[in-house]
Amino acid sequence: MNIIDGKKIASEIKQEIAQQVKVMLDKEERPPHLAALLVGNDPASETYVNSKGKACKEVGFDSSTYKFESDISEEELLETVQFLNNDPDIDGFIVQLPLPEHIDEQKVILSVSPRKDVDGFHPENVGRMSVGLPAYISATPNGIMELLKRSGIETAGKSCVVLGRSNIVGRPISILMSQTTNPGNATVTVCHSKTANLKQITSQADILIVAIGKPEFVTADMVKEGAVVVDVGIHRVETDQTKSGFRLIGDVKYDEVAPKASWITPVPGGVGPMTIVSLLMNTLKARNNEIYS
Ligand code: GUN
Repeated sequence: MNIIDGKKIASEIKQEIAQQVKVMLDKEERPPHLAALLVGNDPASETYVNSKGKACKEVGFDSSTYKFESDISEEELLETVQFLNNDPDIDGFIVQLPLPEHIDEQKVILSVSPRKDVDGFHPENVGRMSVGLPAYISATPNGIMELLKRSGIETAGKSCVVLGRSNIVGRPISILMSQTTNPGNATVTVCHSKTANLKQITSQADILIVAIGKPEFVTADMVKEGAVVVDVGIHRVETDQTKSGFRLIGDVKYDEVAPKASWITPVPGGVGPMTIVSLLMNTLKARNNEIYS
């Protein structure tokens, strides 16, 4: 069994990005600038936005955060999005989700200029990705593709089962894995909460990508011997075995699945570290006008 070391791969990519920023600075060009819009005080969202700021600093990007109280009106939020859409000093920005209930999330996503949509959530980017055009690809699917590529995992002609059909993970990764790219060229099946005979399907998978959002849902009996297992889940559970009183687990029951797998992502340290790095990769692309010229 080989571990897909997301922490190490993320760190390598950050070094590559930092190198490219250095070249820009040496030429007296401005570095990439990523902004984040944060509404309310959700601790997970705050942590995520802080991590983005820290990662920007590490690679030499400029970063800014626009913070709002949770009672901000939809109109005011949309105005801020327009302001960022038009600010030439900002290459890309994200609106941290979830948003408070009184704000229409889809409306906000649609208001972000596709050119600055480094989250890859705008339907224009999702559509471009679907037809194989250059596009901003959302962080988690992009991170998974990088992990497979940099681990040298063969995907062409393999059977790939994706557990989960969310707009930001399951659906996009299923599209990417079926495209004529490397990684890609897999025969993809998407499973979800209404799938019948789930175990029968997952246990045929050469590559199993799990983004179902249920702690330790995938057990050894659902996995084929020698499969590649990618675990997108991350859950905080209480335990008396750590100092902090909690530990992180994934959607896969790691201890029993790992011995059967040829490759597996750990939790933490697998897909997680790749998400912020993907955002940095997209921001660098935005700075270089690589997607929309
Ligand atoms: N909330 C959880 N993950 C994400 C993400 O990747 N982007 C944004 N904007 N919000 C999130």
